[in-house]
Amino acid sequence: MVAAITPLVVLGPAELAEAAASWTAERITGAVAARRACYLALAGGETPRGCYERLARPPYRDALPWRSVFVTWSDERQVALDDPASNYAMAKAALLDHVPIPLEQVFPLLGDPTPALRRVPPDARGRPRFDVIHLGLGEDGHTASLFPGSPALDEAKALVAYVHDAPKPPPERLTMTLPVINAARAVLFMVQGASKRDALGR
Ligand code: 6PG
Repeated sequence: MVAAITPLVVLGPAELAEAAASWTAERITGAVAARRACYLALAGGETPRGCYERLARPPYRDALPWRSVFVTWSDERQVALDDPASNYAMAKAALLDHVPIPLEQVFPLLGDPTPALRRVPPDARGRPRFDVIHLGLGEDGHTASLFPGSPALDEAKALVAYVHDAPKPPPERLTMTLPVINAARAVLFMVQGASKRDALGR
């Protein structure tokens, strides 16, 4: 079953950050109210930074149940956590340094994250079921680190796939696989810039 995709078109980066933060905040509040925890996967690249900076400001910074949030990433460049190319580093500076998510509930997608992903309550098929997964979109249509033609797209069992030759630098990456992304309760694609119009259309 293909879930309904509802594109929300907004004016510019500031409106995207606002809409994405509000959408995410609603789902964090809902998940914690329903299940006393929210399992959230953040996106990499540049586009989500505005949303994370917005969540780090009032009212979200003070109003959301951050102590009940578990965080990981939908993909990660295999670089040091303090490397400027690190998706973790971006989210840490934009959001994690400003909200009280306990450190033991933050799981960088490095090395073998499977044990951490196995902590996420599973769906009926045993796949970790995230409450929210954030994704971006590349001009070539890639999302997370699932690039067109990549064998990682065919992964049907593993929760993550290693990518050694990503066309977008850096080449070494780790990405959630489609079974995990498709098991999520909600997925938000944040896409900005005319250069992405074709990919989004496709
Ligand atoms: C990454 C990303 C990647 C990203 C797109 C869009 O680690 O590079 O996860 O999938 O979302 O490439 O990147 P921009 O938002 O920077 O255009």
